[in-house]
Amino acid sequence: MKNKKKSKPKISNKKKYNQYKTDKRILEEIIRVDHAGEYGATRIYDGQIAVFGKNSKIGKTIQHMADQEQEHIETFEKLITEHRVRPTALMPLWNIAGFALGVSTALLGERAAMACTVAVEGVIGNHYKKQALLLKEDQRKLRSTIKRFEKDELEHHDIGIAHDAEKTPGYNILSKAISLGCKTAIAISKKI
Ligand SMILES: [Fe+2]
Ligand SMILES: [Fe+2]
Repeated sequence: MKNKKKSKPKISNKKKYNQYKTDKRILEEIIRVDHAGEYGATRIYDGQIAVFGKNSKIGKTIQHMADQEQEHIETFEKLITEHRVRPTALMPLWNIAGFALGVSTALLGERAAMACTVAVEGVIGNHYKKQALLLKEDQRKLRSTIKRFEKDELEHHDIGIAHDAEKTPGYNILSKAISLGCKTAIAISKKI
């Protein structure tokens, strides 16, 4: 009796290639939205520092986070050029909206400013975590950059918590509104 050979499921070369290579459209969306998000983050902290002043205690804490955001935005500016990705058409909007969010939360007080940080950084941190899973072997370098930035964003989130963000009057509503705003901005900036 003949032994039937068990044949291994064949993986086509195309499939192997797809496992290695990040979809071009996804890569462009990632770079576009992260560039927009990091820009927005720098504007939020600019707005808060404009209210508190650089030399106040809280201003120095915010400046530490703003310095890291500066590194993040510079990285994505380079990637936008390198990969010839069109930046979001909404940069002027994020410029104003980010700054306005920073100023208005700072005017509500230090805790409200930190509540803003907690909400924004929580959303961005999660967003980076999901993105890292979409990047394949061909984008190993970008994946590790994103993982490093995710750590920074979560550090910012924790700084906010440590500064009593959750004791802001109306914290839940404020936090939900800002998170929703960020998620909407992310959805729009991927495409437009
Ligand atoms: Fe950032
Ligand atoms: Fe951040």
